[in-house]
Amino acid sequence: MKAGIFGIGTALPEQIITNAHWVQRLDTTDEWIVRRTGIRERRWLNGHDTVATLAAAACADALRDAGRDAEDVDQIIVSTITPDRITPGLAPEVSHLLGAERAGAVDVNAACAGFLYAIDQAAALIESGRAKLVLVCAAEALSRITDVEDRGSAVLFGDGAGAVVVAGADLDLGIARFELSCDGDKANFLYADQTDRVLRMSGQEVYRHAVARMVESTTTALRAARRTVDDLDLFVAHQANARIVEAAAAELGIDPEKVVLDVDRVANTSSASIPLALERAEREGRLRPGATVGLAAFGAGFVWGAGIVSWKERVHVCA
Ligand code: ACO
Repeated sequence: MKAGIFGIGTALPEQIITNAHWVQRLDTTDEWIVRRTGIRERRWLNGHDTVATLAAAACADALRDAGRDAEDVDQIIVSTITPDRITPGLAPEVSHLLGAERAGAVDVNAACAGFLYAIDQAAALIESGRAKLVLVCAAEALSRITDVEDRGSAVLFGDGAGAVVVAGADLDLGIARFELSCDGDKANFLYADQTDRVLRMSGQEVYRHAVARMVESTTTALRAARRTVDDLDLFVAHQANARIVEAAAAELGIDPEKVVLDVDRVANTSSASIPLALERAEREGRLRPGATVGLAAFGAGFVWGAGIVSWKERVHVCA
């Protein structure tokens, strides 16, 4: 039995912040933002909504998509760097909002790579027999830790949530072994600390390392899954900005038509960016059951990783 992905759901706040918002407030232009990042607009939570509500909506959507119920959930893993409170974490509240009475619930913080770390943990729970169904959710409100005075970073971030259902089945590929790494020595290139609580980054260092590490880990993940670049139907990387994703894909030799870009509508939503991009690709008819997908991410830590997964492989899900 292997772990696989069987359902997806997303949720976005209603409030749309276009580049014009920043053009009115900072010394920037729509042309600069689009050319250097690919971003056209982003979503922001308003003062009343919570990240937990967004996460629960994405999880409910994912369960519906997989044809499963909240009672079926053994564990909920929520990746976030922007929980509503310092403690408790998001996951117990998501469980409560869903009515997943039986589920264990835990938050994971691996910055922009958090969704991949959470998927890896979910796959391990399924394949070891410790769980039958795990909800993996990534939910973020980067608007809460954005320095609105800094034109070099303010324009980059947005809010959103995505979730997938991970369960076991007799699969050909499923969730192949993920390649996950870190380098804590580089923490000061990208961080938010407890005093000013906003993201600080050395943009060009982040860019350079993000491309190199995502290329390395994707290459290793392909080898581990006994697949080649040509076997990939789609490449979905963390949507930091369009140039990073395109540069990594080009270095890997991936056909640009197989590369998913979602930053134009939601900007950089940290760990939520991969499930948001997957859902869009599926909705636009680019991601069909049985597809082989390369996932890659890089974030603060530095932490990074990659993995090859099959998309909703059509087989009987183990009860
Ligand atoms: N509008 C206009 N000009 C700007 C803006 C802006 N919003 N932001 C920066 N500039 C200016 C700078 O002040 C600088 O001006 P100068 O030459 O007069 O000093 C010039 O543009 C070039 O600045 P750079 O920082 O060198 O710009 P760069 O081409 O590197 O683009 C960017 C900046 C988009 C942040 C880029 O470094 C990048 O993509 N970095 C990756 C980091 C990233 O995406 N982080 C997201 C979070 S991390 C993650 O998710 C992994």
